[in-house]
Amino acid sequence: MNEKMNRMEFLKKLGLKGASLFAVYCTTSGLSSCINEPIDPTTPTGGTGNELSLDLSSSAYSKLNTIGNFVIVSSIVIARVSTSSFAALTQVCSHQGSKKVVFSSGEFYCPVHGARFDTTGKGLNSTGTRGLKTYLTDFQGTTLKVKL
Ligand code: FES
Repeated sequence: MNEKMNRMEFLKKLGLKGASLFAVYCTTSGLSSCINEPIDPTTPTGGTGNELSLDLSSSAYSKLNTIGNFVIVSSIVIARVSTSSFAALTQVCSHQGSKKVVFSSGEFYCPVHGARFDTTGKGLNSTGTRGLKTYLTDFQGTTLKVKL
């Protein structure tokens, strides 16, 4: 084997393609940012591949101008927590995997069995003990970015 062949070229020569190549490459490279979740077609434009970018002046996301409201984008529940802060947590419940998490009364909640989580993803009751994955947010002007 050519010593200058990089890992990707080597895997391609083995005949691995598409998803299998992606999975092998991610596993072998140990990338912590390797996410294999599909992004739904409603992903907002304007962000990079590693973030969502939501324009709060648009009607699609203007709900987020009011404290206590939330939107769901690409299976992420994005909530307006205070005048200056947001929380973005996965919509997929850590209890039994239902994609039902919403934001209500200042906390994240799954109605299937009642799991509750605070805005940092920490579980607040026995069904929420595993916590929820959180995403960093950055708010500038009218643009809210969610780091994936
Ligand atoms: S699946 Fe959410 S509480 Fe059980």
